[in-house]
Amino acid sequence: MKKCLCRVLLWHFDHKTAHLFLMKIKYRVHGLNKLSLWFVFVLLSVAGRAQEISSDPAVIKDGETLFNANCKSCHAVKRKLVGPALADVENRAPSIQWLKEWIRNPAKVIASGDEYANKIYNEYQKAQMTAFTNFKDDQIMAILAYVKAEANKVDAPAPGTEAVKTSDQPAIPTAYLNVIMIGMIVILILLLIILGFIVSALKKFLDQRDLSEEDREVVHSPITLSSSLQSPAFLFIVVFLVAAIGFKTVIDGLYTIGVQQNYEPRQPIAFSHKVHAGQYEIECKYCHTGAAKGKSANIPSANVCMNCHTQIKVGTITGEGEIAKIYAAVENNKPIEWVRIHNLPDLAYFNHAQHVTVGGIECQTCHGPIQEMDVVKQYSLLTMGWCIDCHRKTDVNTKGNAYYDNLVELHSKSSKANMKVEDIGGLECAKCHY
Ligand code: HEC
Ligand code: HEC
Ligand code: HEC
Ligand code: HEC
Ligand code: HEC
Ligand code: HEC
Repeated sequence: MKKCLCRVLLWHFDHKTAHLFLMKIKYRVHGLNKLSLWFVFVLLSVAGRAQEISSDPAVIKDGETLFNANCKSCHAVKRKLVGPALADVENRAPSIQWLKEWIRNPAKVIASGDEYANKIYNEYQKAQMTAFTNFKDDQIMAILAYVKAEANKVDAPAPGTEAVKTSDQPAIPTAYLNVIMIGMIVILILLLIILGFIVSALKKFLDQRDLSEEDREVVHSPITLSSSLQSPAFLFIVVFLVAAIGFKTVIDGLYTIGVQQNYEPRQPIAFSHKVHAGQYEIECKYCHTGAAKGKSANIPSANVCMNCHTQIKVGTITGEGEIAKIYAAVENNKPIEWVRIHNLPDLAYFNHAQHVTVGGIECQTCHGPIQEMDVVKQYSLLTMGWCIDCHRKTDVNTKGNAYYDNLVELHSKSSKANMKVEDIGGLECAKCHY
């Protein structure tokens, strides 16, 4: 009969030696602890190297002042403005030294033929960044410290969105699955290491016994590639990993079907809400005439643009090119083909006037800080869960609306809580589905 390590072991294992053996294992596991301490140390020192940028609040404060005075007109930390969003630039740019040279004299770095510099220069349509020749090293480091601190901040909800914190909903299951996956892999690796230690301890222990020649061979038979490939343990691990990865992909996929959050298509004309609704404070409803009165908000026709652009022919940012496209559309009587961003499936009914005029909800609650966007993107999930969530949490806007007086009175008799949208039927299927 074929002998294996376990059989040899059982044969030679008696009560007295068990104690000795356990002591050895303990000693080894102790060694493992030292090993993991060493790992933590290495990790920390690697992290330390990336931490050249200060996290001292005083430095960050200085950086903020410098940033606001010099960079804010073209940069934001998390958004693209005239220049790139600066978050994470310390990891993206070639080096800290490169950043210092760039900020002091971008034109020089571009002229030197530097690959990265030319790449971003072209990406930003050859917009010239100002040179800050007089900046000292510590001033630049302070700005970077501010940028880093700002980038690490968790997004504060946009004004009015406290009731519907939606943006991170799909991230929850994914994050959980990731943590579970990583946890399992770590546990598997640890198990392997511990098993390795146990096997070698067992071998040492058996060596001290007087073994027959045959047994000795079994104990010292090397672990070859083919023997481990054929082992059931290996097969199990492979099957487990494949199944786990497959499972996770399917779940991720299911959660994102039909969800287009953050969809940010390029538009045929570089129309900027930041310029129009932000800088020049043009009312949303001036262009989106339907939002207050009807179901759809509507996209303005080129004629609405011409109310102003018969006068304004040159933009400060894009020059003549983009505005000329409005003229071309009007002259050729061709509508501008805006790419639609928000789009519910046909089975759902959504009415703007009901929310904006009757409900008194700000556009930004659902669409995010549009007045800060150069390019519009879909801010909310627009899933059924998103609608329902808000209907559960939001009070009906009953002020000055005689229609509700009776309802409010009835409601306050039956319950102490404020009247939410769900109490007036906001969760009924037929209200939202045709
Ligand atoms: C006049 C507008 C303008 C100002 C002011 C400005 N920048 Fe820039 N910056 C740009 C543009 C545009 C780019 C993209 C590259 C290009 O086109 O030259 C850029 C690129 C950068 C980059 C490289 C970003 C990346 O993605 O690698 C850094 C870093 C940077 N700027 C830092 C600063 C700092 C710090 C300040 C303030 C001290 C500042 N900038 C002020 C316009 C500006
Ligand atoms: C000067 C006219 C104008 C003003 C003012 C304006 N918009 Fe727009 N809006 C447009 C045009 C044109 C588009 C289509 C191009 C685009 O997506 O950028 C658009 C697109 C949108 C979209 C995306 C539509 C889609 O396809 O799903 C939303 C949402 C939006 N605007 C909201 C707002 C809000 C909120 C405000 C006020 C803060 C506002 N707009 C102010 C002209 C305007
Ligand atoms: C109520 C007035 C008004 C309306 C309506 C209006 N704009 Fe503008 N637009 C402006 C102003 C003001 C500027 C800023 C010009 C400047 O940069 O000095 C501008 C700038 C622009 C620019 C150039 C941005 C730049 O700086 O390069 C584009 C492109 C543009 N508008 C497109 C449109 C389109 C498309 C519409 C119609 C959907 C529209 N505008 C409607 C007032 C208006
Ligand atoms: C309660 C949430 C909510 C509010 C408040 C809201 N919207 Fe919308 N908006 C939506 C949804 C949902 C869609 C997608 C509608 C569809 O596809 O039928 C949309 C679509 C749009 C569109 C694309 C064209 C259209 O009519 O479908 C524009 C433009 C728009 N909204 C502008 C506005 C403006 C301007 C305001 C403020 C006056 C506003 N929205 C307020 C949820 C909202
Ligand atoms: C930001 C919160 C918010 C979001 C998001 C929202 N709603 Fe509403 N909804 C309201 C409020 C508030 C009312 C009550 C308006 C009133 O006073 O009649 C309402 C009312 C309604 C009603 C009328 C209910 C009734 O019984 O009269 C319908 C239908 C509706 N919403 C559909 C939708 C759909 C579809 C979506 C998602 C695409 C959606 N809503 C997203 C706040 C929201
Ligand atoms: C407040 C509005 C609202 C109410 C109430 C509502 N739905 Fe929905 N429902 C939606 C919206 C919006 C979508 C489209 C979501 C998307 O595209 O992800 C949707 C999608 C669906 C879908 C398609 C599957 C999917 O997830 O895309 C089904 C099925 C559905 N709803 C069933 C129901 C049933 C059954 C009820 C009643 C218990 C109900 N809905 C109540 C707004 C609502």
